[in-house]
Amino acid sequence: MIKITTIHGDGIGKEVIDAGIAILEETDLNFDFIKAEAGYECFQKNETTIPEETLKIAKKTPATLFGAITSTPNEKSPIITLRKELDLFANLRPVKSFEGVNSLYNDLDFIIIRENTEGLYSQIESFEDKEETIAIAERVITKKASQRIAKFAFEKAISDNRKKVTCVHKSNVLKKTDGLFKKSFYNIANSYFSKGIIANDYYVDAMAMYLAIKPQEFDVIVTTNLFGDILSDEAAGLVGGLGLAPSANIGDKNGIFEPVHGSAPDIAGKGIANPTAMILSITMMLDFLDESYWSKKIELAIKTVLSDAKVVTPDLGGTSKTIEMTKAIIEELNK
Ligand code: NAI
Ligand code: MG
Repeated sequence: MIKITTIHGDGIGKEVIDAGIAILEETDLNFDFIKAEAGYECFQKNETTIPEETLKIAKKTPATLFGAITSTPNEKSPIITLRKELDLFANLRPVKSFEGVNSLYNDLDFIIIRENTEGLYSQIESFEDKEETIAIAERVITKKASQRIAKFAFEKAISDNRKKVTCVHKSNVLKKTDGLFKKSFYNIANSYFSKGIIANDYYVDAMAMYLAIKPQEFDVIVTTNLFGDILSDEAAGLVGGLGLAPSANIGDKNGIFEPVHGSAPDIAGKGIANPTAMILSITMMLDFLDESYWSKKIELAIKTVLSDAKVVTPDLGGTSKTIEMTKAIIEELNK
C-alpha cells in the first residue's frame, strides 16, 4: 500500500487532481489517498492557509500531490511552508517538447533544478520605518544548501544520462550571496569532471535571453530560488505553456508533486483545465517511488493523446473537457 497525501486546493487545482487520481486508479498499484486541506478555501474555513494537520499528514507519507491554490493576501504560502517544513530542497522542472503541440520550439529536452528552501523566498521581510515606506527582504544563501543543490543537479545529470550542468546566478552584482552559490557549484563540479560532466555558468539576465534564442544548448540548469521560479515559467512558455508544465519538490525523505500552474480563476469551474501538467507531475512521483514501469506507460499515453491532437483542451487548440482528455489518456493506457 502506497500512502499518498492529496491536497486539492482551489480552482482548477481540484479539477486536475481528480484527473490525476483517476489515472493512478487505472494502474495495478495499491494507493491509499489521504486528503488534506490547504489554500484559500481552507483559510476561509479554518483561518489558516495550511493547518498543522496537513503538515503532519504530508510529513508521514512518502509523496504528496498538490493541485494548486489561490493565494491569500497577507497569509503564508502553503506550498512554500510545505517545502520548508519537509525540507524539500530541490525543485525539478523538466522542459520537454511534445509532438503535436503548437509551440515555439519542438526539439527541447532539459531540466531546471531550483534551490527550494532559501534565497529570496526565505520569507524574511520587514519594514524599516513605521510609515512602511521602506521594505526589506533578506536573501539567505548558505554554503550547505548551495552545495546540496549542486550535488543533486550533477547526480541528476548522471542518472538521466545528461552531459552538462549550467549554474545561473548574478554574482557580478550579488557578490556575496551569488558569489557563494557559484563558488559552491564549482566546488562540487570538480568531482564530476572525471565522470564526463561539463560545468559552466551564466548570469541570470543573459540566461533569460539565451533561453529564448538558443534553448537547445541546455541540459541541466541549476539556480537559486527566485531565478529558478522565473526562468522555469519562461521555459514552460517555450514548449506549449503552463498546461503542460509539471514539477517535483524533492527531499531526502519525501516529495511533493505539483503542476507549475496556479488555480486559474479565469477558467475554474468550466471543466476545461488541461490535466497534462498534473499527470506529468504524477509520472515524476512514480519515478520517485521507483515505479518507473507505470511512469513510462503513463507518459507514453499522454504523448499519444497530444500527438493525435483530437481530444485536447482549449489551451492546446482543442474543444475537449478535462474529463474527456483524461478518459482519452486512460484509453491509451489500457491499450
Ligand atoms: P495561473 O497559472 O493560475 O494561470 C495563468 C494562465 O494560464 C491563465 O490564463 C490560466 O487560465 C492558464 N492556465 C493555467 N493552468 C492551466 C491549465 N492546466 N489548463 C489550461 N489553462 C491553464 O496563474 P495566475 O492566474 O497568475 O494565478 C492564479 C492564482 O493561482 C493566484 O492566486 C496565484 O497566486 C495562484 N498560484 C498558485 C500556484 C500554486 O498553487 N502552486 C502557482 C502559481 C499561481
Ligand atoms: Mg512560479
